Amino acid sequence: MKVLIVFLVGVAFVLAGPHHEHGHEGHYEIKSHDDLVSYRTACAEKVHATEDLVEKYKKWQFPDDAVTHCYMACVFEKFGFYDAEHGFDVHKVHMQLAGPSVHVNHSDEMHQKIVDCAESHKEGDSCAKAYHAGMCFMNANLRLVQHSVQV
Ligand SMILES: *[C@@H]1O[C@H](CO)[C@@H](O)[C@H](O)[C@H]1NC(C)=O
Repeated sequence: MKVLIVFLVGVAFVLAGPHHEHGHEGHYEIKSHDDLVSYRTACAEKVHATEDLVEKYKKWQFPDDAVTHCYMACVFEKFGFYDAEHGFDVHKVHMQLAGPSVHVNHSDEMHQKIVDCAESHKEGDSCAKAYHAGMCFMNANLRLVQHSVQV
């Protein structure tokens, strides 16, 4: 019971949090570093990543293999800006990369880079698309990514 109450209070706190963006493209809550840590753990388990791979991910190394492809897709799905059916929601990616304190301009150069990355890898399965787009985001926005959506 105590656990349930703590859980519910936690949910209420998150819902009342300051990081809400309401725009024409729908609701997106910017994920924190703690969120990311839990996604990493859950996704490494889900794709059965070896310890060796997990160590690589921690060092910001993402080998071009099927397990890593699906790890990346899993993390992006948990962020809530990717799914196999619809691909990336570039507006949500932009909000996440820009961070909570920045007003996002969806006409700016960063937005265009995100769109280019999301659209440049249409071949392969859903995991491969997520991986290649993810690598492209990192290469294009490396500094911002390290601060906010390092996977
Ligand atoms: C958004 O970016 C575009 C392109 O750089 C610029 O023309 C426009 O004024 C910006 N809008 C806002 C609200 O800052």
